[in-house]
Amino acid sequence: KVRLFCSDLDGTLLGEPDATAEFAEKWRSAPGARPVLVYSTGRLHDDALRMVKLSGLPQPDYITSGVGTMIHRMPAGEMLHGFSQTLNEGWDTARVAEIVSRREGISRQPEEQQHAWKSSWFWHGRTGGEIEELEKEIRSARLAAQVIYSSARDLDVLPEKANKGNALTWLCGHLGLGVDEAVVAGDPGNDSSMFLLP
Ligand code: GLC
Repeated sequence: KVRLFCSDLDGTLLGEPDATAEFAEKWRSAPGARPVLVYSTGRLHDDALRMVKLSGLPQPDYITSGVGTMIHRMPAGEMLHGFSQTLNEGWDTARVAEIVSRREGISRQPEEQQHAWKSSWFWHGRTGGEIEELEKEIRSARLAAQVIYSSARDLDVLPEKANKGNALTWLCGHLGLGVDEAVVAGDPGNDSSMFLLP
């Protein structure tokens, strides 16, 4: 039985207004008890909220934002600090930035895309090998971090225990649900970790 539905926003539930409206209508008119609804996005929380309002998507029960670095319970919007606290170990955003910024052709995303557990950059058209090499260099500096590359452009460096898949696992545990009771939707890049959950 599906007890939780977790979906990406941009390029999944958003992008085709007719399809967004169809999803919203189907969700609202679904008979019986609906699964827990979670939106999981690379946007930060306030930005995600704004998009949900603008698009007419149904109100979610939870929003996971910043590529799986924060979880907020809705509609009150309180942050589940228990999750974010797991991210601190071995994480140092200033040292991450120092290493990443040495790459040629890389530029920092605007400040409103950054926060304590998310270091985001634009790096166009890179190969898997280049991304792996960067991750290796970060790890050899003893930083517990992971590198996620999406849309052949967006590079996010996150704490090792972050990402959309790990956030979903934590949330399922918090709600007393099994990960196998969740259905996920998304595209390649930062959504992969949700599809790859064991
Ligand atoms: C969203 C975020 C951006 C991130 C990207 C990929 O576009 O705004 O910061 O790099 O998702 O995760």
